[in-house]
Amino acid sequence: MPSFVEIAQLGKTYDTPSGPAVIVRDFTLYVDAGEFVCLVGHSGCGKTTVLSILMGLATPTTGGVVIGGREIDGPGTDRGVVFQSATLLPWMTAADNVRLALGQVGAPAGRADDYLAAVGLPGLGSRYPRELSAGMQQRVGIARAFALEPKLLLLDEPFSLLDALTRMELQDELVALWEAKRQTVVMVTHDVDEALLLADRIVMMTSGPAATIGRVLDVPFARPRSREAVLARPDYFWLRDTIVGFLEEQSVA
Ligand SMILES: Nc1ncnc2c1ncn2[C@@H]1O[C@H](COP(=O)(O)OP(=O)(O)OP(=O)(O)O)[C@@H](O)[C@H]1O
Ligand SMILES: [Mg+2]
Repeated sequence: MPSFVEIAQLGKTYDTPSGPAVIVRDFTLYVDAGEFVCLVGHSGCGKTTVLSILMGLATPTTGGVVIGGREIDGPGTDRGVVFQSATLLPWMTAADNVRLALGQVGAPAGRADDYLAAVGLPGLGSRYPRELSAGMQQRVGIARAFALEPKLLLLDEPFSLLDALTRMELQDELVALWEAKRQTVVMVTHDVDEALLLADRIVMMTSGPAATIGRVLDVPFARPRSREAVLARPDYFWLRDTIVGFLEEQSVA
């Protein structure tokens, strides 16, 4: 059976004043429906480049992406996206930002409050983005992505600008939302512990230029997972060392 997400021989080259710059090459990855994949790699290696192609915001130079049997040719409501900073519409309340997504897929507007409650913002729907902290805004962004009920979620370092405590809370909320529907997820993160808590598979990218997949690690932890259970696993530190070791090798190369 074909995989839900098929990324085949993906490559991206930018034209620069000093000639073509190969950013990503030969990136091939198959993701099964319901799988949670984390993408890690050094800053500037091309993680966002790969993710923006999946989002339909950038076009590949070589290869292509098939999602649910259909080759993508632009953005669509079949994919929920979350970026590093929340990209809420500032003139709309939190609830209206979520309702907009619900409206795009023909879902009842009344569900906005449920999604906001699920990300820890019950009763705050009438606030405008400027009246919310960065962490709260990011929560609304996650609620909005889930409100599309997308089969695929694409998350680009969604928690990296948040303090450690807020980050942990949002990780738990993300897991709870994901456990309910088990959407397919591709998430970029710099945080090795976050990847080990969330992912079924961790895809490690080599450093650029011309970055590609260097190594793929299966995370053998049972679900549903708790932070405590994951940290208590005897193989946790071995897995962590493997990823950190790979990244260290890449910074020397
Ligand atoms: N439009 C563009 N034109 C030329 N080069 C670009 C363009 N967009 C990105 N790049 C280059 O592509 C490389 C990869 O960028 P990308 O944003 O994908 O990295 P990243 O792995 O997401 O990094 P970070 O972890 O810092 O977010 C960088 O060297 C960047 O300078
Ligand atoms: Mg990036």
